Amino acid sequence: MKYRNNNLYVENINIRSLSNKISTPFYCYSFDRLKNNINEFKKNFSTINPLICFSVKSNNNLNILKIIKNFGLGADVVSKGELLRALKAGIKPQKIVFSGVGKTPDEISFAIQKKILLINAESENELKIIQKIAYKKKKKVNVGLRLNPNIDAKTLKKISTGRNEDKFGISDKNFIKLLKKFHNSKNINIKCLSVHIGSQILDYRPYSKMVSVIDSIIKKTKYKFDYIDLGGGMGIDYHLNSKKLDYKKYSLVIKNFLKKHKVKIIFEPGRSIIGNTGSLISKVIYVKSSLKKNFVILDSAMNDFMRPALYGSYHRIIPAIKNNKVIKKIHDFVGPICETTDSFLSLKKYQKVNENDVLAICDTGAYGIVLASNYNLRTKPAEIMINKSNFKVISKKENINKIA
Ligand code: LLP
Repeated sequence: MKYRNNNLYVENINIRSLSNKISTPFYCYSFDRLKNNINEFKKNFSTINPLICFSVKSNNNLNILKIIKNFGLGADVVSKGELLRALKAGIKPQKIVFSGVGKTPDEISFAIQKKILLINAESENELKIIQKIAYKKKKKVNVGLRLNPNIDAKTLKKISTGRNEDKFGISDKNFIKLLKKFHNSKNINIKCLSVHIGSQILDYRPYSKMVSVIDSIIKKTKYKFDYIDLGGGMGIDYHLNSKKLDYKKYSLVIKNFLKKHKVKIIFEPGRSIIGNTGSLISKVIYVKSSLKKNFVILDSAMNDFMRPALYGSYHRIIPAIKNNKVIKKIHDFVGPICETTDSFLSLKKYQKVNENDVLAICDTGAYGIVLASNYNLRTKPAEIMINKSNFKVISKKENINKIA
């Protein structure tokens, strides 16, 4: 996103003009950004040559998945729906991993039938179910075991997944026990150790600890894994110019690990691929002045974009047209939903805002549209992909008459 003569552009498209053609609110993504993020991610880990499985939960738009597939990425899925969508996008089953604590027998059966690369199991009972289904199907199924390395990823509590108190994965003791118990199974082939310690991680040190826990488990068990799936979680810079994840250091940690262990590394990035490619374009319905504040009431709300309401997360809001008239008063950017938590951002000052102004809520490409709902019986917004001077509707705005 760039300003040209005070007008906001995504690639060569003027956002104010676009909002005259597409009804707001709508998500808009940049193809170029997406391409750059994928290439950057590959470059950061080029010496490791990993299999990169895009985490479909972060954005499951079919068109976006097709683009991602064309850049050679696989998929990390967590439900039958996501698996179907990834397959529909043309992603090869041999590049798909299936994670999650609560896979149903139906989901497991479907994943086996589709011959995906790995089912990453998270409990003994899940292993038993996989074994039972594989036995019935007379198959030997490749699985990963998800380790809970008991590491605090130093991220938001609500998106931390690698501590003992979190529901994910298997503790080191149980991991070793299960490895012994199942390694001779006729229907299960434990090929992978998987981990994922959380999301929006900006410090490489929790990753470094995670890799050393994996190293010690392999040493203890002398088990030969074909794959180590390190999950995703790489954080992005929502604040601009703040702390960034040190990819060089993370990559070096893995390189040193690979000197000792001949395995294929898998990553499951979501946010770092798609997060900063998207923004939610919204129009101002009213500006409501109170004694202390200006409430900027937008036509987008927490049903369109949940992260601020759900996690208190920060997203910049920038105008489609800069007017350089600063008003020194608190500005609360809120949605029309009947909840106080339906609020995106509060700033001490902002440029003068008028009704019908267009604003962009930034970095909403990951965990944006996928978390949208019909709360207050509002329609879910459209999604637009911008590529140079062209734009394409990659998902239509819901039809109010279909949902109401
Ligand atoms: N692999 C597994 C097993 C995961 O659970 C997740 C995310 C990922 C990969 C991808 O993580 P990423 O690279 O995107 O950080 N809704 C929250 C984030 C939830 C993340 C859940 N798991 C948010 O908006 O911050």
